[in-house]
Amino acid sequence: MARINENYLKLQSRYLFSEIGKRTKNFIAANPKAPVIRLGIGDTTLPLPPSIIDAFHKGIEEMKSKDSYKGYGPEQGYDFLRVAIAKNDFGSRGAKIDPEEIFISDGSKCDTGNILDIFGKNKIAISDPAYPVYVDTNVMIGNTGPANEFGEYEGIVYLRSTEQSEFKPPLPDRHVDLIYLCSPNNPTGSVLNREDLKKWVEYARKEKSIILFDAAYEAFIEDPQLPHSIFEIEGADECAIEFRSFSKTAGFTGVRCAFTVIPKKLKGYDEKGNSHDIHSLWNRRHTTKFNGVSYPVQVAAAAVYTEEGKKQTREVINYYKENAKIIMEGLKAANFKFFGGINAPYIWLKTPNNMSSWDFFDLLLQKLNIVGTPGSGFGRAGEGYFRLTAFGDREKTKEAMERIKAYKW
Ligand code: MLT
Repeated sequence: MARINENYLKLQSRYLFSEIGKRTKNFIAANPKAPVIRLGIGDTTLPLPPSIIDAFHKGIEEMKSKDSYKGYGPEQGYDFLRVAIAKNDFGSRGAKIDPEEIFISDGSKCDTGNILDIFGKNKIAISDPAYPVYVDTNVMIGNTGPANEFGEYEGIVYLRSTEQSEFKPPLPDRHVDLIYLCSPNNPTGSVLNREDLKKWVEYARKEKSIILFDAAYEAFIEDPQLPHSIFEIEGADECAIEFRSFSKTAGFTGVRCAFTVIPKKLKGYDEKGNSHDIHSLWNRRHTTKFNGVSYPVQVAAAAVYTEEGKKQTREVINYYKENAKIIMEGLKAANFKFFGGINAPYIWLKTPNNMSSWDFFDLLLQKLNIVGTPGSGFGRAGEGYFRLTAFGDREKTKEAMERIKAYKW
């Protein structure tokens, strides 16, 4: 009799974006002519910039001849990419990260989930609302008890991010071991400033906790005062792991390339209180379970850091930022209350007339044929809110906002 991992039975519903996909598919099946506009999942819509495509082709061409053919690469990633990341994403911002502290992977979603492999039973704190992967992967691995009537799991400390706190999570009121933070935030679009991050680093160092810092949307920060990496804060290399991705920065959602930074100074503890290097544990896990990202993909990712690549990816990001402006202007004209959208690609709006998030989802889909993401799908504190993405097509984004403005709310 093959036994299953019963933790999976505790999961409350299907994965948020699968549920949205299912409801949208059913609606289209029943209304095949409906002009549906998708502003739900944060999936990029512009093609890869030309210099990145050229590099991608070159990487593939190298596979053609015996001299330049590549078989298995280093599991942690090729040096040319790790060096470019260390210099451009960290060194240039005063954060000292050694290329060896960077692990190239096929996505931040996988890394934020897989990282739990190297940790034991811990007290987990997760900001609420949050990217659902943080909670679900903790349930899957057995770090929680069952869910209560609000769909919240026993054992998780939920850090409520509310309108009053500008959607920034409060410090835990007790000891926790692992803390998930996301800045710029998915879904609320709020960003932690230097002072905020200093408080978190201070807390984590005092408690010997580790911050799992998801910075997948850092490229959208436009305020020069805001930090792009937690490693810009002194002492963070003793208490944080950072997740980054080429998905939203350079349109790699379909290509797949990301990286995780684990400083060599970072320690975790065994039952007896002896310290161990987290870097070595992850290296062991990574080399055992992963064979690296394909060579042409890494060559394409490295092209993001060339002068041409930087300019072209900036143009793509500016296109999405202009979409965000169009969404915000439309919402303002329709008298919605909203947040985010400036240093982040997500706009977090308050539903009109105190509608629940899913009721608003249904209304938008059925009456205006627009797909968005219900705030409650990101956690209890997201109830009564709704997320729109700036990653859509320009004309469709404009059309969606015209429909929202014309509707009698
Ligand atoms: C989102 O819409 O929240 C993201 O696109 C999901 C993801 O990055 O996996």
